[in-house]
Amino acid sequence: MTLTADRLLLFGATGDLSQRMLLPSLCALDADGLLEPDLKIVGTARSEMSTKEFRDFAREALEKYLPDHRRGGVAEFLNRLSYVPVDATTLEGYDELAREVGEYVKGLAIFLSTAPSLFEATIDGLVHAGLTKGNVRIGLEKPLGIDLSSSEEINDAVAKAFSEDRIFRIDHYLGKETVQNLLALRFANILLEPVWNSNYIDHVQITVAETVGLESRVAYYDDSGALRDMVQNHMLQLLALVAMEPPTSFGSTAVRDEKVKVLRALRPVAADETVTGQYRAGAVNGSPVPGYDEELGRDSDTETFVALKAHVDNWRWKGVPFYLRTGKRLPERVTEIVVQFRCVPHSIFEGRGATTQPNRLVIGIQPEENVQLSMMAKVPGLDREGIRLRQIPLDIAMPDAFSGTVRRIAYERLLLDLIEGDQTLFVRRDEIEAQWEWIDAIRQLWADKGIKPKTYGAGSWGPNAAIALAERDGVSWHDE
Ligand code: BG6
Repeated sequence: MTLTADRLLLFGATGDLSQRMLLPSLCALDADGLLEPDLKIVGTARSEMSTKEFRDFAREALEKYLPDHRRGGVAEFLNRLSYVPVDATTLEGYDELAREVGEYVKGLAIFLSTAPSLFEATIDGLVHAGLTKGNVRIGLEKPLGIDLSSSEEINDAVAKAFSEDRIFRIDHYLGKETVQNLLALRFANILLEPVWNSNYIDHVQITVAETVGLESRVAYYDDSGALRDMVQNHMLQLLALVAMEPPTSFGSTAVRDEKVKVLRALRPVAADETVTGQYRAGAVNGSPVPGYDEELGRDSDTETFVALKAHVDNWRWKGVPFYLRTGKRLPERVTEIVVQFRCVPHSIFEGRGATTQPNRLVIGIQPEENVQLSMMAKVPGLDREGIRLRQIPLDIAMPDAFSGTVRRIAYERLLLDLIEGDQTLFVRRDEIEAQWEWIDAIRQLWADKGIKPKTYGAGSWGPNAAIALAERDGVSWHDE
């Protein structure tokens, strides 16, 4: 189903996401001629503002967040915008909103970037104003609940007005080019798939490390923590893409069917397979930074770091651990997937003094977008004193390989897919519920066993126990 929309309605239009990501992405798409000429964008939020004030607000956001080389067409873009203040908790205001949206001939795309507590009331308001009729689809930004039951409540509330094929749950990691490239790497090459299983893979590591701390998100983050903020969504999506079976097509049903099977095959984590941490004062990139407790202004049991050893209980992944770790205030910003292959079954070089090391595939998602495969090669020489082998990388830097193409941010892709109605890169209800089920069990385990975050210095790779979690199995985290 590709049905474009001629109206886009943004809830939370004055919020942080809107300023940093949504407005700049829409403006960049517009400048590249990717928005329909008749697409009208209506912003709404609680703040009282006129359309003119909203356009000024948007201009400021664009000046701040659009990179210089993508600043074209701002004036034309601003002309598409209008604004209606709405207090989402009361029905008042929705009729005015509907008047502003006007008649949509092709379709209406709604983007909800508001507190989840407002979702239900917003859906009621949309129904009241007739804004759910016809070709309407709705994008939902995280957090979609804080556990399985609250996520079910949100999903039920949305399902009252929208069928699943009209609900677009956003996980912005799926909008990242390098994340989508995982599928190309796995399923557009014959080389990898035959060895992509427990016969050839020893383990997988997924790291999402950030240097930032709490930023200005105190209220949200302290109620969430790293497990719910990062693992439940982004990291489990990465894991699902790495572990899924080949889908029959790059279609929304085929891809999501395979991802959900992986999520359902996740084994509940055991107490010795989880480590949590909270940062204390330290230095990141050479600058001193305060501890989480200091930023928060009080003590807290919220984890800012989590490391897990996960297992996908199916034929393909039998006995292959997936080590996951994510945290704030780590030494560098890096998101990467490491696939560690097994050793060759018999080394013909051993009698000649050379050791072979197993191959390793590193998929850099950010900030480096690259694919690196370490291979063994012979060090040049006459080998009178034995053969020497060394690991050397086959290295593909995506920006170099595709120089001249526009590097788009995740929300450009996702907003365009929402406007055009393509669900492939959005999360289906069964996926999100399988994710929560696994996460809830971990939180229950922490509560039952009294597992509390261990401290780690800002600028380190988390508590020592996280290193031990992997080293116990003879595995080192890929930190270089
Ligand atoms: C968000 C989390 O979903 O993802 C943030 O709420 C985190 O805490 C962010 O910083 C990371 O996204 P990215 O694209 O910068 O890796």
